[in-house]
Amino acid sequence: MASSKPFHVVTPLRVSPHLSKLAGTKVYLKLENSQPTGSFKIRGIGNFCKVMAEKGSKEFVSASAGNAGLATAYCAKLLEIPATIYVPQSTPAFTVERMKDEGATVCFGQTLDECKNKAQEMVKKNSDWTFVPPFGDPLISEGHKTMVAEMKEQMESKPGVIVLSVGGGGMLCGVIQGLREAGWDDVPIIAMETWGAHSFHASLKQGELVTLPKITSIATTLGAATVAEEALKLAQEHCVISQVVTDPEAVAGIPRFLDAEKILVEPACGASLAVIYSGLIKTLQKECKLPRDLESMVIIVCGGNNITLEELDRLKDELCMNHRMKEYVECKVALAKWNHASNSGTFTASLQKSLGACGH
Ligand SMILES: Cc1ncc(COP(=O)(O)O)c(C=O)c1O
Repeated sequence: MASSKPFHVVTPLRVSPHLSKLAGTKVYLKLENSQPTGSFKIRGIGNFCKVMAEKGSKEFVSASAGNAGLATAYCAKLLEIPATIYVPQSTPAFTVERMKDEGATVCFGQTLDECKNKAQEMVKKNSDWTFVPPFGDPLISEGHKTMVAEMKEQMESKPGVIVLSVGGGGMLCGVIQGLREAGWDDVPIIAMETWGAHSFHASLKQGELVTLPKITSIATTLGAATVAEEALKLAQEHCVISQVVTDPEAVAGIPRFLDAEKILVEPACGASLAVIYSGLIKTLQKECKLPRDLESMVIIVCGGNNITLEELDRLKDELCMNHRMKEYVECKVALAKWNHASNSGTFTASLQKSLGACGH
C-alpha cells in the first residue's frame, strides 16, 4: 500500500522584483521547477500512479516528450513498480538519461502519437498494466489542483491573474478546479502556447476540439495535437485569455530569466514568461482585457527538463537560422517578382538593401 504522503512537495511562491519592474505590477513566481522531477507534472501523475498502485497495477507505461515520463519513472520507483516510457526520437539524450536513472525502461517512437499508440498497445496486452496519460484524467487534475490550494495559503489576497502554459490542458484543468475550490472563481487565467503547438487556442476559437496536423514548435512538451476535452469545457466556463507566442519569443526570455532569477527553464515555460518579456501583459491591459491597475499576477514556473545551457545555445542558433532563411526566401520571392515586372530603379535599390540586411 502506498504511503498517504504525496510525491510532490509544496513549492515556494515568491515575488520577482525583476519581473515586477518590467510588468509594472507585483509578479509572484510559483516555483514548480523545484519539484523533485523539475516540473509540476509530478503533482497530477503522482496522484494518478498512487491510486493505480492501490488498485493493483503491476507496471506503468507512458508516452511522453519528457516531463510526464520523468514524473512517471520517479513515482514508479518510489512505488516499486516497473515503468516503461515511450519517448519521441527528438527527446534530448539528457532527459532520456534521467528517466533511465530513475530505473525506467525507455523505448523510442518517431512521434508522440506513435509513442502513445505503442504504449497503449502494450497495456492492452497486459490487463494489470496501466497506461499513465500525461493529461486528461480526473486524477491528474486532482493532483494539479494542489497548486492553487498552496497559493491560497501562501498569498495574503487573491492574485489579479494567473499565467500558465498549455500543452494538453492538464494544468489548466487543475488550476481552474483549484480556483473554484479556493473561492477564487473570478481570477482570470492567461493560457500561453507557442505557434505550432497551439491546439488549445485553435479549439477555443473554433468552439470545439481541433487537432493540429503536425506539431512544429520547438516547445515540444507543449506539443499535444489535441487538448483534453475537459480543458476546453472548463475554459469556456472560466475567464481564460488564450495567447500564442512565437518560438523565438518563448526562448528569448529564458536567458534573461536565468540571469535575473538563476533559474533555467525550457521553452514550454518560456512561453509563460513571454507574457512579460514580449510586452504582452501591457497589450492586454491596453486592450482592456486586463485591468490597468492589476494588483498582482502569479506566473506558474512550470519548469521542465528538456534544457541545458548547451541546448539553449542550440535552440537560439536554430531559431536564428530559421529566421534568416525565412528572410532569404522572402527576398528571393521579391527578386523573382521584380525580374518578372522588370521596372523601377527605386525598387532595385530597396531590394538590394534588404538582401544585404539579411546577409545574402
Ligand atoms: C514544462 C511543461 N510545462 C507545461 C506543460 C503543459 O502541461 P499540460 O499538458 O498539462 O497542459 C508541460 C507538459 O508536459 C510541461 O512539461
